Amino acid sequence: MRKGVLTIFMLVLLVGNSISSPRNADSVFVFAYSVNEGRSGLTLAWSVDKTNWHAIGPEHCFLFSDFGRWGAQKRMFSPYLFQEESGTWHCIWQLNSDAGQFAHTTSSNLYEWGRQSYPQVMASGNFMEPEVTQQGDHFLISWKSEGGEKEGYFSATTKDFKTYTATKSYPKNDRLSVRKEVLINGKKHKGQLKKVSWDLVDKLIKNYEWMQFHNSERAETLTDDPMQFANLKPLEAKITPKSDESKRISDMLIGIFFEDISYAADGGLYAELVQNRDFEYNLNEKENRDKTWTSKKAWTVSGNATFNIDTINPIHPNNRHFAVLDIKEKGVALTNEGWDGIPVEKDKKYDFSIFVKTAKGNKGSLKIRLVVDGKILGEGKINKIGSEWKKQSTIIKVVETASNATLEVVPEIIGTIQLDMISLFPQHTFKNRKNGLRADLAQTIADLNPTFIRFPGGCVAHGDGLDNIYRWENTIGPLESRVPQKNIWHYHQTAGLGYYEYFQYCEDLGAAPLPVVAAGVPCQNSATGGHGQQCGIPMEEMGDYVQSVLDLIEWANGDKNSKWGKKRAEAGHPEPFNLKYLGVGNEDLITDIFEERFTMIYDAIKEKYPEIVVIGTVGPTYRGTDYEQGWELAKKLEVPIVDEHYYQPPGWFINNQDFYDKYDRNGPKVYLGEYAAHTRGRRMNIETSLCEALYLTAVERNGDIVSMTSFAPLLAKEKHMSWTPDLIYFNNTEVKPTVDYYVQKLYGQNVGTQYIPSFVDLSAGDNKVEQRVGVSIVKDEDSGDLIIKLVNLLPVEVSSTIDLSDFQLKSEGVLTIMEGEPKDETVIPIEKNIQISDNLEYKIPAYSFTVIRAKSI
Ligand code: AHR
Repeated sequence: MRKGVLTIFMLVLLVGNSISSPRNADSVFVFAYSVNEGRSGLTLAWSVDKTNWHAIGPEHCFLFSDFGRWGAQKRMFSPYLFQEESGTWHCIWQLNSDAGQFAHTTSSNLYEWGRQSYPQVMASGNFMEPEVTQQGDHFLISWKSEGGEKEGYFSATTKDFKTYTATKSYPKNDRLSVRKEVLINGKKHKGQLKKVSWDLVDKLIKNYEWMQFHNSERAETLTDDPMQFANLKPLEAKITPKSDESKRISDMLIGIFFEDISYAADGGLYAELVQNRDFEYNLNEKENRDKTWTSKKAWTVSGNATFNIDTINPIHPNNRHFAVLDIKEKGVALTNEGWDGIPVEKDKKYDFSIFVKTAKGNKGSLKIRLVVDGKILGEGKINKIGSEWKKQSTIIKVVETASNATLEVVPEIIGTIQLDMISLFPQHTFKNRKNGLRADLAQTIADLNPTFIRFPGGCVAHGDGLDNIYRWENTIGPLESRVPQKNIWHYHQTAGLGYYEYFQYCEDLGAAPLPVVAAGVPCQNSATGGHGQQCGIPMEEMGDYVQSVLDLIEWANGDKNSKWGKKRAEAGHPEPFNLKYLGVGNEDLITDIFEERFTMIYDAIKEKYPEIVVIGTVGPTYRGTDYEQGWELAKKLEVPIVDEHYYQPPGWFINNQDFYDKYDRNGPKVYLGEYAAHTRGRRMNIETSLCEALYLTAVERNGDIVSMTSFAPLLAKEKHMSWTPDLIYFNNTEVKPTVDYYVQKLYGQNVGTQYIPSFVDLSAGDNKVEQRVGVSIVKDEDSGDLIIKLVNLLPVEVSSTIDLSDFQLKSEGVLTIMEGEPKDETVIPIEKNIQISDNLEYKIPAYSFTVIRAKSI
């Protein structure tokens, strides 16, 4: 929101306040309750007479319960408010859980809340309908158990709400307030009554009204432009760069966020063509919802044989399951369907490999075939099968292109054979690397010209519960020794695309690697492992975890003779990878548990590797408790950079271009690690892409404080989407960049190191119009080029005159433009030459993004 608008709005609220002051009676009543089976969070109503109740909102969420996973959990039941003498409010509530926990947090005003904690007070069972009384400086809390019959009590001091002691009695008659049933808007609600000052209620109402206003700004959409700008005529703009006020900005502004989500890695960027090559799929990965998701997934057997899975004497303890075929007669084939079929190209070669063995004394071979509709497209042979596990390989040359071949392993043997790690790779991968990346996808990403690559997530980095935290050391070394695991997005993660491959890809692209490790806590939306982030790695195991993070740095940067550097060298990279940035945590709940673990990791890195720039985390969005608390912690610890995330509607990006203008220049810097404009239908189009382009002009303006950005998520495979929208869609044979991709590409290919502020004199005289025109001028000191970015988010043309008289520029420049109607989804930028002059005249088309690049003389 623009500052001017905010000031006017606050003035209106203040005037409103003095008008309503006659109602400023000393005491009114507030009623705390929740609706919609706890999904509403804390809702509040007020009354002067305890009879006529006014819901604030109605039913506006003043406090959201963050316990457990999205969907079924994250609910608040029976909220109960009480206040300390100091004025601090406490809220406790019942959770959607029978884990013997309840929730607690504090506030000074009932709308800005502190960290939530979920104390364990019973071994199990539901902690229901809590009530509170006070004895000295202790609060006694009572609760009911399942069925409402049994009651329990414990006390906590006013200073320390972290430790709770069981008590035997509870003075029921002194309850600070009682639960009652009241009628609000014709509906009965059970909740808790508290006497408060009108001033408090007045502020709650204003906070709600502010949220309404804020949400109306977020709801602004280009769809309403025909009405909103019905009378708008083409505009004129005079743009005057102020070269003497230029400032240095980050040269790493545009990077990428890679996460194995929506089949981005296995089945996507990772070029392996065999699905479930390791026979390690299991029902748990799909939470038992897909009964076919077993070790046999994607495999079938034809002919006279039985097909079983065994775990005795595997090729590696980390890879326990393997296939066993008991073959009764020749003509048996073990077939893999690939990921939606196996795409192959005429005249291209494919590397097949397999671990195989048979009984001692048994002799035979394997035929390998790529087949479509009974037609053989290519063949290979493994000549000898021994009695010990052995990796064998062959090359298959394909004679005909097909998008949906299958792979057949045809044993020429009778009896039992064991098979595992059955793999097929195109020889042509990105940079022709072995165990490499799909060339077309990797190139499309490379074309973004990213200055860094963040990996392995996102939520994948901190995982679904403690056991699912991504452990980097499980993803290096021989493929058969890597530890496959459940992907938090409900599929199988082979770790074939592991830390070595990530670092190598970074090196191939000339991008800085930015690995993100968990901060000792799993994803806040975890389904397993102790309900999200109220659990953390037990403190007695934290030493080992911290060591593992330090080992990562040694693996990446250490000498080839060091313990971990040696492993990197053995994998083929004796030289260090030059790791400089390390993310710790991913939009975690900022709890005491988080702080304790983050601080341990952070301090250890600072002490052993002071040259490493740690990137902290400040929650999943641009405001609220985790954002506030995350920032506070980062400032306290002097964390150099923090990772901000916000997925917001287009209107948010239009109305918050000043978001970073007001940031403290002396505190931590910002990595905007995940963001995207989300329309209602989650479509990517000119509206979303131009909103992002507009916002990025503001980010460049703040490139002194914002060091890095990455749109998220990057990749999604059609038919396997865990999340939309994404930057690049793909299937087995096509890569489909979105309109938003081209915005990232234009920014990525046109970065600067100096920001030159400019005065934009627009003939509109209307803030709503003015904020739809974005200008950013940067200079790239390496090439000496001047780069002008112009975004017009209006339905009318803007005739601009750009004063370039301060710059010594060649007369030939290059202009790249993308334009279209807000709902267009397939716009591709067009490049043309442009004559550069001291007073450059350029008509900025309606709904367009233009980049002009001018060379210095
Ligand atoms: O980008 C998709 C997901 O969004 C990420 O995994 C997570 O960090 C965020 O919530």
